[in-house]
Amino acid sequence: LITVGAQHGLYLIAQLLLDSNTIFGIENPGYVDMRNVARLTSATVNPLPVSHQGLVLNDAVNECDYVYVTPSHQFPTTVTMPIEHRVELLARATEFDFVIIEDDYESQLEFSGYPAPALKSLDSSDRVLYVGSLSKTLAPGLRIGYLVGPAKLVKELRALRRLMLRHPPANNQRATALFLERGHHDSLLKNLRRAYKERLQTLVIALREYLPEAVHSLALGGSSLWIKGPENLDARKLREYALQAGVLVDSGDVYFLGSERPLNYFRLGFSSIPNGHIRPGVAKLARVINDMGGSRSLGQ
Ligand SMILES: Cc1ncc(COP(=O)(O)O)c(C=O)c1O
Repeated sequence: LITVGAQHGLYLIAQLLLDSNTIFGIENPGYVDMRNVARLTSATVNPLPVSHQGLVLNDAVNECDYVYVTPSHQFPTTVTMPIEHRVELLARATEFDFVIIEDDYESQLEFSGYPAPALKSLDSSDRVLYVGSLSKTLAPGLRIGYLVGPAKLVKELRALRRLMLRHPPANNQRATALFLERGHHDSLLKNLRRAYKERLQTLVIALREYLPEAVHSLALGGSSLWIKGPENLDARKLREYALQAGVLVDSGDVYFLGSERPLNYFRLGFSSIPNGHIRPGVAKLARVINDMGGSRSLGQ
């Protein structure tokens, strides 16, 4: 089903499937919009912990009716779920009777050349609803996403889509289809991967040099890095001060659910920053953190 971005697909799924009897498991930290979409329904939203290997497969997962997961690049930590965990998550979905919502919003931005298979591609028992997007590669403003699921469900989702907004603009769909068909998206991806890989490397080297004690996620691709600052760093203040210095960072507290929201995490995006601007930007950011008095304990 073609949707108005991945977001719309997630919204349709939530509206159709979640009710007061459902437990909706969501990664913590996780995608804020998904959490808010789930909260528009009467489902119980359960936070599920995340490690350096993505979603932690603990007992809480088994209790869910739906598990929302971002296995390619966990959002916001960007870590990748290993294949063994993917296989286990699928096995558990059958054993404990839950459905997986796989949000693969930027799967194409993988730099190693060996992407882990999507959960959907390993799904032999129709346990996975797959949501994808062209926002991170082609253009977010185009609002083209897609959803893959069992035919019967897609029929229902299509009917709901029709009631909401009939369909995404046909001219956008047509232009996108031609763009894909003629191979332009494939060559765009090649260029994006090359450019983003270079930017990520520059960012990692600059962090090592200017913020050597920073702990950052191990990103195999994507468009941002997730960084842990010192325990006493307030990344909301860092965002404010860094902005004054001309550097935009995304403070991480909003991505956490529950009453204990650490304040010392932040995201650095690199997808729209020319390679040459990255080092000077990190140098500026390091100066801001130094001025805030936090560099010494960065990452502890
Ligand atoms: C984790 C995640 N899921 C879904 C989306 C939604 O993408 P779209 O622009 O296709 O609605 C985003 C957008 O940034 C995202 O970060």
